[in-house]
Amino acid sequence: MPSRLDGPLKVTGQATYGADNNLPGMAHGCIVVSTIAHGEIRAMDLTAARSAPGVIDAYSPFDPLDLRTPNTLFGETWVPLQDKEVTYYGQPIGLVVAETYEQARDAAMTVEVTYHERPALTSLRDGLPSAEDAPPSRDGSPSTMAILAPGVSSIEDALEAGPVVVEATYSTATQNHAAMEPHSAVAVWDSGALTVYSGNQGANLQAMELTEALNVDPSSVHSVNPFVGGAFGGKARTSVAAFLAAAAARALDRPVKVVLSREQVFTATATRAATIQKIALGAATDGSLNAIRHDSWSATPMDRSFVEPTSHSTREYYATQNLAISQKMVPLNIPPTTFMRAPGEAPGSFALESAIDELAVALNMDPIELRMKNDSTAPLGKDLLWSGKHLEECFRIGAARFGWAHRTPHGHTDGDWLVGLGTATAMFPALRFPASVEVTLRNDDTAEVATSGADPGTGLLTVLSLVGAESLDIPPARVTPRLGDSAFPPGGMSGGSTGTASAGSAIMIAAAQVIDELLALASSPGAPFEGLEVSYADGRVLADGQAMTFGELLRTVNRSSISAIGSSAPGEELTKHSFSSFGAQFCEVRVHKWTRETRVSRMLGVFDAGRIINAKTARSQIIGGMIWGVSAALHEGLEIEENGRPANADLAGYLLPVNADISDVDVHFVEYPDTLHNTVGAKGIGEIGMVGMAAAVANAVYNATGIRVRHIPIVIEDLLP
Ligand code: MOS
Repeated sequence: MPSRLDGPLKVTGQATYGADNNLPGMAHGCIVVSTIAHGEIRAMDLTAARSAPGVIDAYSPFDPLDLRTPNTLFGETWVPLQDKEVTYYGQPIGLVVAETYEQARDAAMTVEVTYHERPALTSLRDGLPSAEDAPPSRDGSPSTMAILAPGVSSIEDALEAGPVVVEATYSTATQNHAAMEPHSAVAVWDSGALTVYSGNQGANLQAMELTEALNVDPSSVHSVNPFVGGAFGGKARTSVAAFLAAAAARALDRPVKVVLSREQVFTATATRAATIQKIALGAATDGSLNAIRHDSWSATPMDRSFVEPTSHSTREYYATQNLAISQKMVPLNIPPTTFMRAPGEAPGSFALESAIDELAVALNMDPIELRMKNDSTAPLGKDLLWSGKHLEECFRIGAARFGWAHRTPHGHTDGDWLVGLGTATAMFPALRFPASVEVTLRNDDTAEVATSGADPGTGLLTVLSLVGAESLDIPPARVTPRLGDSAFPPGGMSGGSTGTASAGSAIMIAAAQVIDELLALASSPGAPFEGLEVSYADGRVLADGQAMTFGELLRTVNRSSISAIGSSAPGEELTKHSFSSFGAQFCEVRVHKWTRETRVSRMLGVFDAGRIINAKTARSQIIGGMIWGVSAALHEGLEIEENGRPANADLAGYLLPVNADISDVDVHFVEYPDTLHNTVGAKGIGEIGMVGMAAAVANAVYNATGIRVRHIPIVIEDLLP
């Protein structure tokens, strides 16, 4: 059995992604997007498109497909073609359906759009004067809040008390999830029931959104996504491709496939918002933090549907008597913004952990020592202590492993390279969501673990088999995990780093139930162990010195299988502790003395993330996160021009690291199972890997060059002497 179950299928091309499904009679849809950032569509001429070769039909806001705005777990999700307002460049405004993709694409290019154009606001900096208070954070905290020590009247007073104060403004770029699999869907209706094949982060969530959007009965929507080519938050909501494929397939009564082009993915899906963040830190000369102020501005699309919440997590990092945070949003004519891996924490930690490094420099203090001196025992303003926190151990192990003792305040040189080391703290809340899982014991001595969910590359599929095997006390090779189908019980959404804790807890409950049922069956009248005291171990029913495997027992009583559905949800534990994963990020950069290019030559992350179920997929998750942190620090940024057009909406211009950009990545876990949080003891690893990494890179660049860059990505021009 491979240590990563989906590995062989993926590397041999046998894994079937949404767009790999081809059905008899299937038509192809190509979307049309707006070429202005703000205005009203006056007319759309579809005549040429409709008469182009192979075209079956074309749709626009004047000739729409029937879709309603769903309002589910994520709130409202925008659906296309329902009104004539354009609020960003690249907004989906039409669909052409033809016999082939090429025919649909060619015809889509002939659609004539007449706009009444209005001025567009596309720059975060230009939009600052129109900033608005953001809605409350995900835990319900207000957008502006302060905690002050007795006798302190304002955060300014606390900061003025100094004596050491650093204050600076940081900014982070717009990013696209850039998942390898573009958003796509194949939809087919059969007797009023819909099946949609579309990569997504939770099959049942996609089914719920489609149910509402199409105004049909929940039982008539079946969402299938066994494999997902990357998601990262960008496939949490149902995609425009899925809404349009489903609606067009209904209108035409034939299967429809819609695949976005890479360029369309950059605007017709969603992005991570650009941010501007102002931080002030006040400390005593021994490094004790006396005051923290963090004010953030996040770009938001005109419908204000998502704010990148960079200030709120600052409550969690450090102990201080005085804290003030604010979170503002700046509505712009930009593509939708949404969750992206470590939403809030990733860009927020760039600012905070850069500022901490600046304070360490101002204090002439080691940055790890400064962090540990102010280590938090609970989130500020919340009295519940962390269930466990081993950050100090992460830093101790990391420093030893990375050779931190060799660091000097001004780096060192190696030939033509200026070499520096940087570090940062990583945190991500340990969360879980309600989840249900069905565990089935079959009469061939195998078992099945099924939940709707998705594995967008996280390793959840493998984790299901491992937790299932452990809970049933049988080898993992005998457990078949099933995932990515809304027909299974709802659970296992891949979002918020919750998959293992949520689905895992439900598996343990379902397994205990199915074992109870097995034992009841074993001792029931007419069964092999009738009337006996029975127990279960090792996949076998035991009684009176005799044993039978569950398969044998089921065969004996003429049952093909028995199953139980177990459910689990967050509960009482939330009133007792605060929960988070923690990590210490380290990196070494080399900045070339003459070309000023920056290379990350080594990095290490040491994490306290609870119990690690599967070493390989956990390590891979963290490596992916850390590389994304480097990418945020040195590569990624979607450049939106004044007219709203993204200048680099392709994988040539939107820079992502390749193997040559990433050398040595080392990951280590200190393993403290957190059974206060959930019975599995896992705390979540999907997102924390990228938190802090961009700051670690920027801090290392400072150490190497003495140049403090307060925005990401850091480019060559920033490092010219
Ligand atoms: Mo992800 S940003 O946890 O959907």
